[in-house]
Amino acid sequence: MHKLVFATNNDHKMRELRQILSSEFELLSLNDIGCADDIPETGNTLEANAAQKSFYILDKYGIDCFADDTGLEIEALGNEPGVYSARYAGEGRNATDNMLKVLENMKNETNRNARFRCVISLILDGKERQFEGIVEGKILTEKHGDAGFGYDPIFMPHGFKQSFAEMSADDKNKISHRGRAVMKLVDYLKNI
Ligand code: IMP
Repeated sequence: MHKLVFATNNDHKMRELRQILSSEFELLSLNDIGCADDIPETGNTLEANAAQKSFYILDKYGIDCFADDTGLEIEALGNEPGVYSARYAGEGRNATDNMLKVLENMKNETNRNARFRCVISLILDGKERQFEGIVEGKILTEKHGDAGFGYDPIFMPHGFKQSFAEMSADDKNKISHRGRAVMKLVDYLKNI
C-alpha cells in the first residue's frame, strides 16, 4: 500500500485522516518515522509554512507526505493573527492568552468578520500541490463554549448560532477550514 506521512504531532488530526484514507493509503505519523524534530515554521504565509514542513520531511526522509498550516484572519485587524495564530500573544503563551488579545484588539470594533484558512501542502513523487479550506464567520465579543481548541470559543461560523466551541466535533469538521481542505486532499488522493 502507498505510504504517506502526515507531518503533524496532533493525534486528533491523525486519527481523523487515518479513518478517511485507510483503504487507499498507509498513513504514517512523525512518530512512526522516528521524527522528533521541531520542524521549522519560519514562513510569512500559511502556504510557505505548509510547504516548509512537507519539504522538510521529503528532504530528510525521502517519503511522500503532506503538512497543514492554519490561521485565523480577522478583517478589521488586517488579517491578523494569520500565520502567527499559534503565538499571537507571544512565545510560550496559550490559547486563552491569544483569545484575550484578540478580544482586547477587537473591543471597539464593529466589523467582526473573520475566517479560518487552512492550507495543506502535499508532495507526491517530488511534486507539490496545495489545497485550501476556508470558513467565514465572525469574532464574538466574549467566549462561548469549551469544546474544541485554539480560538474556537470566540469564532461563530456564518449561518450558525453556535461558536465552534459549542458544536460537536463532527458538526465542526463538516464545515471547518481543515475539514474543507482535507476533503479536497482526499478527493485528489482517491482519484489518482
Ligand atoms: P495549526 O497550523 O493547525 O497548528 O494551527 C495554528 C493555530 O491556529 C493553532 O495554534 C490555533 O491557535 C489556531 N487554530 C487552528 N485550527 C483551529 C481550529 O480549528 N479552531 C480554533 N483555532 C484553530
